[in-house]
Amino acid sequence: MTARIIQKLRVAAVAESTPEVRVYTLEHPRKPLLPDWSAGAHVDLRLPDGRMRQYSLCGEPGPQPRWQIAVKRETVGRGGSAWVHDSLAPGTEVQVSAPRNNFPLAAGAVRHVLVGGGIGVTPLLAMARSLAAQGADFTFHLCARSAALAPLLAELRVVCGERLATWFGDEGRRFDAALIGAPEAGVHLYACGPHRLIEAVRAAAAERGWAEAQQHYEVFQPTLDENFKPEPFELRIASTGEVLLVPADRSALDVLRERGFALPSSCELGVCGSCVCGYRDGIVIHRDSVLPVSARQDRMTLCVSRARVSVTVEL
Ligand code: FES
Repeated sequence: MTARIIQKLRVAAVAESTPEVRVYTLEHPRKPLLPDWSAGAHVDLRLPDGRMRQYSLCGEPGPQPRWQIAVKRETVGRGGSAWVHDSLAPGTEVQVSAPRNNFPLAAGAVRHVLVGGGIGVTPLLAMARSLAAQGADFTFHLCARSAALAPLLAELRVVCGERLATWFGDEGRRFDAALIGAPEAGVHLYACGPHRLIEAVRAAAAERGWAEAQQHYEVFQPTLDENFKPEPFELRIASTGEVLLVPADRSALDVLRERGFALPSSCELGVCGSCVCGYRDGIVIHRDSVLPVSARQDRMTLCVSRARVSVTVEL
């Protein structure tokens, strides 16, 4: 687990994509190229009070002179998007982390089905750019209330062409998750968007027998169960054998930091993957929205996940 490098970037341009969504183009004040990234990656923006917010990169993947993020002003959010809209203008600077990819395209897939709703289209646009550049086979289902409120629609039309299917509520065209179809070897499904859309896609995939490994979801809002009753548990440090008690009202991350471990974190909500750590010898109660099922046998998020009785963490 390493801390992510934060660099100060300059806002090169701001463009309105919809009345609620602005696209911010970021560049380094001196360096000609920004770090390499792959489709599906996000960066963290550091707010003035130190909190971090995650935004997917939606421009052309690879080592590029500029990055683009699309930010929707959330009326009931936690204040990050309002700060971005109110404070970032061309010429201002903002602290941005190196990209991290929790939502990569599946290597070796023969076809890709992308389902994006609202601002959830941002990582999928980067995926579509990558797939189109490779000449790969893909379909993009875009769901929004209307064309006027569909972020990045013009870019998606250019990138996807006839592979784009639009589902706009005001036209009476609503996406039916059954459209994902039956699973086939080598076909991968990706969804990002509102909780309702993701749950509909998950349910349709489960009903049709899609394997977990063929499904990929990106969420930026925690889906924590409010009825969950945390219990205390023990954390054993693999390198020293030391045992720490995590009380019911604290996270493993807090307890480890208090003990002197300099651990990275960002969202502290189980959605970004910054605090992921290896573990063994324990049953972990996974409460995050970021780790794929395949990673849950030996990795946990220290900010929200807990253990039954005890667990050994690879620190
Ligand atoms: S800090 Fe984001 S998942 Fe833990």
